[in-house]
Amino acid sequence: MTRKHSLPYFPRDYLGEKAVEYDNLAWMERNQKNTTLKCVEYLFDPTLGNYELMDYSNYLILDMGCGTGFSTEVLFNLGFNVVAIDILMDMLERAYQKKVCRYEKSLEELLLASISMLPFKPQIFDFILSISAYNFIIHNKSEIKSIKRVLNDTARTLSCILKEKGRMVIEFYPHNEKELHLFVSSFISNNFNGFYIKDNPDQTGGQTFLLLKKEVK
Ligand SMILES: C[S@@+](CC[C@H](N)C(=O)[O-])C[C@H]1O[C@@H](n2cnc3c(N)ncnc32)[C@H](O)[C@@H]1O
Repeated sequence: MTRKHSLPYFPRDYLGEKAVEYDNLAWMERNQKNTTLKCVEYLFDPTLGNYELMDYSNYLILDMGCGTGFSTEVLFNLGFNVVAIDILMDMLERAYQKKVCRYEKSLEELLLASISMLPFKPQIFDFILSISAYNFIIHNKSEIKSIKRVLNDTARTLSCILKEKGRMVIEFYPHNEKELHLFVSSFISNNFNGFYIKDNPDQTGGQTFLLLKKEVK
C-alpha cells in the first residue's frame, strides 16, 4: 500500500484473481518488503529498552496476515525461524508455492489461521510482526462493544503466546485517532507497554507502527 493507492477491501481484494494480481504487483512486493525490514528494526528500537540480540536463527517469529509471503520471505532470508499465518487460502497458497520452490532447510511454517483465533501454545514466540493486516480483525464489526471484545481477546492471546520480554511490531491502518486508541488500549490492558509511530504526525488515520513489548509480571 502507498499514499496513491486506496485501502483494500477485505476479503474481496484478496480472493481468486485478486490474490494472483496482488502477488504480481511489483510495487506491492517492494512496499511490503521494505515495511517488513523497517518493522524488524523497530523490534529493537532502544526506546523499548535494550535488547541483547543474538543471531536471528535463535528466534521464532510469528508473521500475522502473511498474504502471499512477501513479509515472510524477508524474515526467512534474515535468518529467523518463521511461522506465518493467513486467514485466506487463496493468499496462503501463493506463499506456499514460493516456499516449495525456495525454502527447504530452515523452519518456515505456513498455517491457515485467524489473527483473532490463534492456535498456539503459551510463550512460544520471541517476536510477533504484522504487516498491513491487523486492522482487518475488526472489518465486519460496527458496534463498539464487539470491536472492543475482539481487540481485547486478540491482545490477550498475543500476550499469552509471546515469551517473557517478547516484542511485537504491528504496522496497520486505523481509520482515525479514535480507532487507533481502541487498538492501543487493548494492548495496554493486556500486559503490553510501548508507543506508536506515524510517518506524518499530523495524519489522523493511515499508516501507523505500534511498537510493543510484553511486560514482565
Ligand atoms: C496486505 S495483505 C498481506 C500482507 C503481507 N504482510 C505480505 O507481505 O504480503 C493482508 C493480509 O491479511 C490477511 N488477513 C486479513 N484478516 C486476517 C485475519 N483475521 N487473520 C489472518 N490474516 C488476515 C488477508 O487475508 C491478507 O492476505
